[in-house]
Amino acid sequence: MKVITVTGFKGGCGKSTTAINLATFLSERGKVLLVDGDPNRTALSWSQRGALPYRVADERQSFKWVAGNDFLVIDTPARPDSSDLQELAKGCDLLILPTLPDVVSLEPMLATAQALGEATYRVLLTIVPPPPSREGQQMQTDLQASGIPVFQTMIRRAAGFGKAALAGVSIREMTGRDRLPWQDYQALGKEILEVLADG
Ligand SMILES: Nc1ncnc2c1ncn2[C@@H]1O[C@H](COP(=O)(O)OP(=O)(O)OP(=O)(O)O)[C@@H](O)[C@H]1O
Ligand SMILES: [Mg+2]
Repeated sequence: MKVITVTGFKGGCGKSTTAINLATFLSERGKVLLVDGDPNRTALSWSQRGALPYRVADERQSFKWVAGNDFLVIDTPARPDSSDLQELAKGCDLLILPTLPDVVSLEPMLATAQALGEATYRVLLTIVPPPPSREGQQMQTDLQASGIPVFQTMIRRAAGFGKAALAGVSIREMTGRDRLPWQDYQALGKEILEVLADG
C-alpha cells in the first residue's frame, strides 16, 4: 500500500481538490481510501454531496477502512509549521505540496524544502492561470533553480473545479470544456506512479 499525503503551508491552494481528483485517478488503478484529516471535513462533505468512486473516511475512523487498499490519499489542513511537515513526510511514501504560482508562495516553499531535506516530496503548481500568463512556467523554473523537486505537470485554473466541487464529484465526471482539466490530474497521476515505482 502506498501512502500519499497532500499538505502545505497555506490555505486555499487546492489541497483538497488535488486529494479528491488524484484519488479518482488512482481508483482506476487500484483500491483507494481517501482519509480526510482536515477538521473542516472538506473531502467528507464533498463525498456526501455527490458520488466519488472510493471511500472517504474521517481520520478518526480511518483505521477501520485502511486494510486492503492499494493507495491511501490523505488530505490535511494547512501546516504552517515546518517540523510538522517533517513528521508528516516520515509517515508517507510521497508528500505533495500544492502551491499557487505567485512570488509570495516562493519564500515559504524554499523554507519548506530545507526542512524536508531528502524526504520524498514534490511541489505541485495549482490554480495556474492560462496562457498568455507565464506565471506557472516561471515559478517552475524558479523552484527548479533552487533545487526544489516540482512536478512537471501543472494544474490549470478552471471554472470546472468549482462546479465539480459543488456537485460532489471529481473533475472526471464533468462534460465538455469543464472536463478538460481532468487531463492535468491524469498526467499528474502518471508522474506520481513513476515516483512511487522509483521509491
Ligand atoms: N485548479 C483550480 N482552478 C480553479 N479553482 C480551483 C482549482 N483548484 C481549487 N480551486 C478552488 O479553490 C478553492 C480552494 O480549493 P481547495 O479547497 O482544494 O484548497 P485547500 O488547499 O484544500 O483549502 P483549505 O486550506 O481551506 O483546506 C475551492 O473553491 C476550489 O474549488
Ligand atoms: Mg482543504
